[in-house]
Amino acid sequence: MKILDGTWVAEALKKDIVRDVDRWSREFGRKPRMAAIVVGDDPASHSYVKSKEKDCRQVGMESILYKLSSTISQEGLIECVKSINEDAGVDGLIVQLPLPEHLNEQEVIEAIDPNKDVDGFHPINMGRMMIGLPSFVAATPAGIVDLLDYYHIPLQGKECVIIGRSNIVGKPLANLLSRKGYRGDCTVTLCHSRTVDLPEVTRRADILIAAIGQPLLIKADWVKEGAVVVDVGINRVEDNRTKTGYKLVGDVDFDEVAPRCSYITPVPGGVGPMTRVSLLKNTMQAAKLRDMPLF
Ligand code: GUN
Repeated sequence: MKILDGTWVAEALKKDIVRDVDRWSREFGRKPRMAAIVVGDDPASHSYVKSKEKDCRQVGMESILYKLSSTISQEGLIECVKSINEDAGVDGLIVQLPLPEHLNEQEVIEAIDPNKDVDGFHPINMGRMMIGLPSFVAATPAGIVDLLDYYHIPLQGKECVIIGRSNIVGKPLANLLSRKGYRGDCTVTLCHSRTVDLPEVTRRADILIAAIGQPLLIKADWVKEGAVVVDVGINRVEDNRTKTGYKLVGDVDFDEVAPRCSYITPVPGGVGPMTRVSLLKNTMQAAKLRDMPLF
């Protein structure tokens, strides 16, 4: 069994991004810049955004954070998005999700300029990705494909089972892995909460991707011998032995499942760092597109 080491691969990919950032900055006389909007005080959202800003600094990009009150109106938030759309000094824009209950997430996503939509959540980007046109691809699915590619995991004709049909992970990933050609050509099954006999389906998988958000759901007898297992889950579970009182576990019961696998991602240190590096790649792509917008 080999570990798919997302931390290591992400660091390797960042070296390429640093070179790109440096070249671009010298040509345009400024650094690529990502703007992030975070609404309210959710500690997890603030912590994610902080990490994204740190990643930007690490590769020589700039970031600008818009911290908005949890009481902001839908109109106020959309105004903020639109002003960043118009800001020529910003290349990429993310609105950290989830938003407080009273806000309409979809409407906010659709207010983002698709040329700055480095999360790839705008329906224009989602739709273009679906039919194989140039687009921003959501960071987690893009990172998973990069990780499999980095380890030269064969995909063509393989049975790939994805658990979880979210707009952010399951749906775009199913599309990417079933695309014609390089880094695609899998036979994809997309499972969800209404799938009958999930273990029976997952046992068919050459490549099993868990993105369901249920701690330690996937057990050894759900996995075919020699399968490649990718764990997207990041779940906080109580643990009195840690300082924080919790620990992070994936959707896969790693200790049970790992011995059956050819490759497996750890949590943390698997998909997470790949997601973060994909956001940087998208921001670099957005900067490069400034002179020739996609849309
Ligand atoms: N919340 C959870 N994942 C994400 C993400 O990839 N982007 C944004 N903007 N919010 C998220």
